[in-house]
Amino acid sequence: MSKPFHVLSPEQFNRSFLEELFVLADKIRLIDKSKEGNRFLADILSHKRSMLYFTQPSSRTFLSFQTACSILGIKASEVRDTSISSEKKGESVEDSLRTFSSYVDLIIMRSPLPGLCDRIASLLNETPRPIPVINAGSGPDEHPTQSLLDLYTLSRNFAKRGGIDGKKICMVGDLRRGRTVRSLSKLLTNYQNVEIIFCSPKEFKILDDIREFLRAHPQISFSETGHFVEAISQADAVYMTRIQDEYDQSFESKIIDISKYCLTYDHLNYLKDDAVILHPMPRREELDPRVDLDPRAEYWRQERNGMWTRAALICKIFGVHEQITAY
Ligand code: NCD
Repeated sequence: MSKPFHVLSPEQFNRSFLEELFVLADKIRLIDKSKEGNRFLADILSHKRSMLYFTQPSSRTFLSFQTACSILGIKASEVRDTSISSEKKGESVEDSLRTFSSYVDLIIMRSPLPGLCDRIASLLNETPRPIPVINAGSGPDEHPTQSLLDLYTLSRNFAKRGGIDGKKICMVGDLRRGRTVRSLSKLLTNYQNVEIIFCSPKEFKILDDIREFLRAHPQISFSETGHFVEAISQADAVYMTRIQDEYDQSFESKIIDISKYCLTYDHLNYLKDDAVILHPMPRREELDPRVDLDPRAEYWRQERNGMWTRAALICKIFGVHEQITAY
């Protein structure tokens, strides 16, 4: 039996897949505008069921996946609290997920444990009824679908300016434990002459595995700096992130001064006129709500883009993308 189409890591995608996915997301967004189109979409996967296994907090990722399923007619069930499932009785997470897989056709999962998603996908591959698994965030490790929607947002914004190739992307914040930064950095290697500027306090610098990954892809370059204003003023896109203090061993984040890495209203003067401001959200003090009023603030649209990108991805997983394209 052929293996299902799992979504486990940004490394599995190539440029042609990304470009097709973004065209598909645009098409779904357009079709959904009319009642007739909305009905067409709601029938396309109405014979499928999904399960959202989210054992780490989530608002956007959970709801955008749930809504993406509903757009496509997929019935979604959920497990969010293991204290009321059989894991509480001592069942292993592997057995629990294998059990859930018996009832559905797709598992979308977020967990604090890096590597769990890959383990579950391999385990299901060996069962008589393997189903696809989507990684919706695996601890501080990866967040592949967030990087897809981040890239989709960049590609829409840069569509009239030669696309993502050749752009400078400045990523700010907790680059050490921010999985969105890790996944997006990897995905950007599908483009030519992109320059990533990593800007953070020294305690939150990117880890060696990302440095090595980027060095192995010479079509992309990167630099690391602590100078916030200098970094953001050169950028075509500024990608802000919050401190991931849920991964603190004690209270180490509390004693690091991040005030120099916060985008305030006054900083808007330093940004290029056509720069784009992104944030995977949720935000804290690193992104002043007054920035929301600036036309360069893209993060609210970025959230909505997540729903379209995830709907497009699910269509690819179940092989119904050609029906959408033909509509
Ligand atoms: C991000 C995450 O969970 O990694 N949020 C999201 O999925 N949109 C970013 C974060 O929590 O800081």
